[in-house]
Amino acid sequence: MSSSAGALNFDLRVWSAAHLAAVEASLSDWVKADAPADLGSAMRYAVLDGGKRLRPLLVWAASEAVGGNLDATQRAACAVELIHAYSLVHDDLPCMDNDVLRRGKATVHVAFGEAQALLAGDALQALAFELLAPDVGTVPFEIQARLCRLLAVAAGQAGMAGGQAIDLASVGAKLTQAQLQHMHQLKTGALLEASVMMGAACGQSDQRARDSLKTFGAALGLAFQVVDDILDVTQDAATLGKTAGKDAANDKPTYVSLMGLNGAHDYAQALLQQALVALRASGLSETRALEALADMVVNRNT
Ligand code: IPE
Ligand code: IPE
Ligand code: MG
Ligand code: MG
Ligand code: MG
Repeated sequence: MSSSAGALNFDLRVWSAAHLAAVEASLSDWVKADAPADLGSAMRYAVLDGGKRLRPLLVWAASEAVGGNLDATQRAACAVELIHAYSLVHDDLPCMDNDVLRRGKATVHVAFGEAQALLAGDALQALAFELLAPDVGTVPFEIQARLCRLLAVAAGQAGMAGGQAIDLASVGAKLTQAQLQHMHQLKTGALLEASVMMGAACGQSDQRARDSLKTFGAALGLAFQVVDDILDVTQDAATLGKTAGKDAANDKPTYVSLMGLNGAHDYAQALLQQALVALRASGLSETRALEALADMVVNRNT
């Protein structure tokens, strides 16, 4: 059940179904099997048939709230998922989290070897930006440039890659809440916030709406990783489709190690409320999908 009144008469499953099918079809179309020396197989294996597709759904929900360009939105939705998939391939490598299970199947390096996994990640990252700057279609150049910038900043040193560096440098360390928040905002929050802002960049909105969406995306992004930390402790591998209990096994500082399970749970709920307050201040009228997705992020079990 949704925690917010506005989302009560909104069925997220029904809304998601069409977008999920279209995103799946586009990804399958855009991630070609014919890259040299079986690289295409590794790329398709990394991206297709798995994952919640939360980031593409956030792009679509934000875009619909601002009446966004449809071609731009589908490209942005797929591009952010490609960056996410690449980040997972690299995150699972032996030199990082050393994981063997992802989305219910063997990780890319287990299935294709480490070098191919590294290259699949590299190529997925490049493909994301290729999708955002098509040489045909209806996406104005200004929107293309804006989308590229938002995604580049979120994926790079000030976002995901920087956060992953902090994560690796923090093994065995006891971080303060401010340090942990900074790490989570970068490694995971940035890409989720960018998903919302990329959706918004596909259409027209005023400064107030953009500021509200940014606050919404930041709170949601942080909540997402708090919940990821919780699920690592409370769920099993069969439910998660990835190894459970590995944060403690790898001696990673998490919200659970910092504030305990109940504290982390309460914090995630508080972040959800922050996100919803920001959304209501946006002045946008069609925000039910964003609201329902926020609720799903915090109250999910996978
Ligand atoms: C997992 O992300 C990795 C993190 C950024 C914490 P998701 O939980 O969105 O993974 P998929 O896409 O559903 O597999
Ligand atoms: C990963 O965080 C964040 C990324 C940038 C991929 P985790 O290492 O906690 O993600 P999982 O739990 O392996 O999915
Ligand atoms: Mg990791
Ligand atoms: Mg990991
Ligand atoms: Mg995790």
